[in-house]
Amino acid sequence: MMRRVVLAGRGDLAEWRDAARAFAAAGILPEEIDWRERSAEADLAFQRDAMPPAPVTRKPMTVPPAFIELAETVLCHSDPARFSLLYRLLWRLQLDRQLLEVASDEDVVRARLMAKNVRRDAHKMTAFVRFKEVGAAAAGRRKFIAWFEPDHHIVRRTAPFFQRRFTDMDWLIATPKGSAAWDGARLTLSDAPCEKPNLTDATDDLWRTYYVSIFNPARLKLKAMQAEMPKKYWKNLPEADLIPGLIASAESQVRAMAAREATQSLPFHDRLQEAARNLPIEPEAPAGTLEALSAEAGACTRCPLHAKATQTVFGEGPRDAEVMFVGEQPGDQEDIAGRPFVGPAGKLLDQVIADVGIDRSALYVTNAVKHFKYEPRGKRRIHQKPNMGEVKHCRWWLDLELALVKPKLIVAMGATALAALTDVKERLQDVRGKAMAIEGGRTLFVTVHPSYLLRIPDERLKAEEMVRFRNDMLEIQRLMASAG
Ligand code: URA
Repeated sequence: MMRRVVLAGRGDLAEWRDAARAFAAAGILPEEIDWRERSAEADLAFQRDAMPPAPVTRKPMTVPPAFIELAETVLCHSDPARFSLLYRLLWRLQLDRQLLEVASDEDVVRARLMAKNVRRDAHKMTAFVRFKEVGAAAAGRRKFIAWFEPDHHIVRRTAPFFQRRFTDMDWLIATPKGSAAWDGARLTLSDAPCEKPNLTDATDDLWRTYYVSIFNPARLKLKAMQAEMPKKYWKNLPEADLIPGLIASAESQVRAMAAREATQSLPFHDRLQEAARNLPIEPEAPAGTLEALSAEAGACTRCPLHAKATQTVFGEGPRDAEVMFVGEQPGDQEDIAGRPFVGPAGKLLDQVIADVGIDRSALYVTNAVKHFKYEPRGKRRIHQKPNMGEVKHCRWWLDLELALVKPKLIVAMGATALAALTDVKERLQDVRGKAMAIEGGRTLFVTVHPSYLLRIPDERLKAEEMVRFRNDMLEIQRLMASAG
């Protein structure tokens, strides 16, 4: 006699286990049960055909812990066949306790594959959820909503990840398979399907700029890219509509990159160096001005870095800027342009600060070290971190910039800037995101260097770090607004 059972099937182990236990205790065989997932149609059929389990005739079945673990994950899969597959495995395990170790067994293979798909879907959710700000919640907390379309019932198992990572904001993740919400104290989970909200915000542009800046046409591997960021997720990713265009232009971009690749000896390199060497030591600009200081630094030979760099890249910005941003050292493009933060890291910085309402032209932007340190590799010049000796030599110029500009707030981007600005050996992660008083009555705010964001290989970490960096810039914007 066939029995029919209808489960809500939202990845709830207890629900399936209770039904399975009752059937197993009554000795009902796998082929005698028609497992269904709740739907209007299944409910009707259930009312018509439901059969209570037969009276208990057997002692309870037992299973190894690995089965419980597997069942917990498989039950999150959306394939309606998952319930019967697990019930069959439950019966078969009574005869063969080692069954789950038989890698070639058809039921085991199917269950493991389902579990793998569930884990993959959960991983993608942690990487591709994009929060949109929707205003302020109580007690000054910021409020965000995200829309995500998972393949499986993974909201419950993934929610704790977001709770851990985004504790300091209120958020709701809405999906067609339920929702999760956090208000700083309580995680609320619901199985009720949500409607897609109509959401866009300023961070959409940020994601797009970020994506363009990390997209390396020379490394384009279409298959790997689509495996990492499958097309089905694209429609909810603000950056995704750029992808087809970027792919289409990748080849021409690579050719252009090759054509303008930095060489060890650029045609104008020697000329610029020569000009820099011939600059008058006594600057023409009035003494005590930034122009004079910059001209003087142009002839700097305080450390060996000047020998290979094209030119000194001095700071730039208003003489009376209230905020000074300090990076590490000029990169390849800055070395050629003679201006700080004009390459990829600068572009990312520009976008993030503009996004939070900071006007770059109001900032004084400089570096701890004023010459590009690199190692030639073929035609390319590979960035090398300056050592503490070089940082110390260059502190001469940074101190003079600080003395002239007298910023109220200094932003150290990365560990080199932090080391140049403080004598205390603080670890960046210990002081990041906080405003602190430093010598000379100044306030220092520490954050990561934008190049760090450009280098993170893991999508999920990258996304988190982008949000943290933006939050740091937002805090700086608040400090600027409250000071001014
Ligand atoms: N990185 C820096 O630290 N400074 C620049 O100017 C460019 C990249």
